Amino acid sequence: MRIGVLGTGNMADALATHWVRAGHEVTIGGRDPHKAERLATRVGGGAKPAGLRAAAESGQVVLAALPFGAGVDVARDLRAALEGKVLLDCSNPVGPGFGLLTEGGPSAAQRLAAAAPGAHVVKAFNLCHEDVWRMRPPVFDGRPLAVPVCGDDETALVRVRELVRDVGCEPVAGGGLGRSGLLEATAALFISLWVGEGADAQAIAPPLAYAAGPDH
Ligand SMILES: NC(=O)c1ccc[n+]([C@@H]2O[C@H](COP(=O)([O-])OP(=O)(O)OC[C@H]3O[C@@H](n4cnc5c(N)ncnc54)[C@H](OP(=O)(O)O)[C@@H]3O)[C@@H](O)[C@H]2O)c1
Repeated sequence: MRIGVLGTGNMADALATHWVRAGHEVTIGGRDPHKAERLATRVGGGAKPAGLRAAAESGQVVLAALPFGAGVDVARDLRAALEGKVLLDCSNPVGPGFGLLTEGGPSAAQRLAAAAPGAHVVKAFNLCHEDVWRMRPPVFDGRPLAVPVCGDDETALVRVRELVRDVGCEPVAGGGLGRSGLLEATAALFISLWVGEGADAQAIAPPLAYAAGPDH
């Protein structure tokens, strides 16, 4: 697959590294050419450095590894280049006090979709810290990490599920893009539990056999 990455920060680094290893053709796009060059060298595997527009043009899948507000601005600016592409959104619109910056309005992923209406936006990879995405593979107690994926276009979802497996994880159907806000709210909750309370967010859900009560 040809993958364009928008951003040269932590998530770009963590995910692109897996995808290069899986044999994908990756272009790292940054607003700072030196950072793009440095990250492309770091992830290796023939990854090419580029500007944001060239990276968007190069990818069948384009990862937006950008802060929430910047992601929407960049998607609007690149809307023509993103036409027909899968636009993968891992952003967390989480602000001070672990609040959602999108409260009362569309989710971050829906705002990306509005900014680049020709792109097929898919939400994934937002629920864990970059260091988890750097694990090879992210497996806990013998179980691969499950990654919920939200999107409306089946072809786009097929591609993103493949990219989830390439990270060593298992994709889980999260529903349409209309449900992406739930993933973003879940991230806000998890971050507040981990960072604010020092609580184990994994402990808040029972095993599946108990999920709907003992009679189900
Ligand atoms: N880090 C995590 O653990 C984690 C986990 C899950 C989800 N996320 C989400 O993933 C996204 C990326 O996070 P990150 O940790 O990778 O961030 P990061 O390390 O700070 O990298 C952000 C990237 O965005 C670029 N950028 C910022 N503003 C821009 C603008 N206006 N135009 C173009 N490029 C711009 C930065 O470029 P410069 O270097 O030139 O400033 C940098 O390359 C965020 O939405 C975050 O919520 C992060």
